[in-house]
Amino acid sequence: MTSVSGEQGRPPCVRSPFQGRSCSITGVGSYVPARVLRNADLERMVDTTDQWITTRTGIKERRLAAENEFTSDLATEAARRALQHAGVPPEAVDLIIVCTITPDMPFPATACLVQARLGATRAAAFDLEAACSGFLYGLEVGQQFVISRTYDTVLVIGAEKLSSIIDWKDRNTCVLFGDGAGAVVLQHRPHSHGLLTTVMGADGTRADALCMPGGGSRCPASTVSVAARLHYLRMDGRETFKNAVTAMHRAAEEALKRCGLRVEDLRCIIPHQANRRIIDAVAERLGARPDQVFVNVDRYGNTSAASVVIALDEAVKSGRIRKGDYVMLVAFGAGLTWAAAVLEW
Ligand code: UT7
Repeated sequence: MTSVSGEQGRPPCVRSPFQGRSCSITGVGSYVPARVLRNADLERMVDTTDQWITTRTGIKERRLAAENEFTSDLATEAARRALQHAGVPPEAVDLIIVCTITPDMPFPATACLVQARLGATRAAAFDLEAACSGFLYGLEVGQQFVISRTYDTVLVIGAEKLSSIIDWKDRNTCVLFGDGAGAVVLQHRPHSHGLLTTVMGADGTRADALCMPGGGSRCPASTVSVAARLHYLRMDGRETFKNAVTAMHRAAEEALKRCGLRVEDLRCIIPHQANRRIIDAVAERLGARPDQVFVNVDRYGNTSAASVVIALDEAVKSGRIRKGDYVMLVAFGAGLTWAAAVLEW
């Protein structure tokens, strides 16, 4: 373990035991589509109320991509903003990872479409699928290329057009989700500790709790699968809720332990934005103060792989996170999957 404490008054902090250089987020950006779908609009679509949605989830509105706007479009715009923030031209990017469960099409990878749109001609490109934990999985994969000196500049993007897989007749799910994208640029920044640790986990025995049954090799698209509405997201809400609170809490505790930090050392905790009640329950279990926890689920709903990185962008651009702050990112999603990361901004 490498001690990275130093400045006076700062808590001791231990970086994960890896060989190699550090990896920092040197730019962040996000993009949400213009169209707003409010709870009042949903009241006219399914048997629901603003009161139910607000009290059970904390969501007031979400964004929807236009019909001719796809995941690659959202991803490209978020990536442009992150590159601009980092001061990095697209030609300098070595690798693009797009984390998504709503790729433009099963193949080729959405990352390749983004590579072409950005003009990132030198970059390798692939997609990564870990549902709502996708961005944090992507962050860990991307940083491995930087710390190992394989690549200097990696773009990690979380992007979703979830409205394309939502059953707009199912009130259990259609009120929860939204579209959007966020991106970070990963590079080695001298004299900065950057990402301190990442914890990842999965439990495939609970894959049925949250899934889209149709469209893969198990159930290719057919008139039967379409009629059975198998190409829409399905969720056992209560089961997912319970597992989300437990797994996010455990991953967050483990990440803190690995870097020798306490919850009070964190300036900002950015949880996956699925449900305000999940966020509050995780914060309470961690013993975090409300002012440490970043919340924007009220404005965007659950944007899956995009949620943590959109929130990170808003926290940074609004001054909630400043240079040298310790920040925790924590997420949970289909798989089941979960992940937590601690970084020094
Ligand atoms: O991003 C990946 C992770 N995703 C999550 O973490 C989401 C996890 N789950 C949740 O956020 C919550 O479970 C939900 C928001 C989905 C549901 O909240 P809940 O408190 O767990 O409600 P419930 O599933 O226990 O349902 C309570 C009632 C049911 O009626 P009955 O069966 O008790 O008569 C539902 O039919 O609420 C009903 N209901 C609704 N009522 C009005 C479900 N959806 C709606 C709705 N409007 N939109």
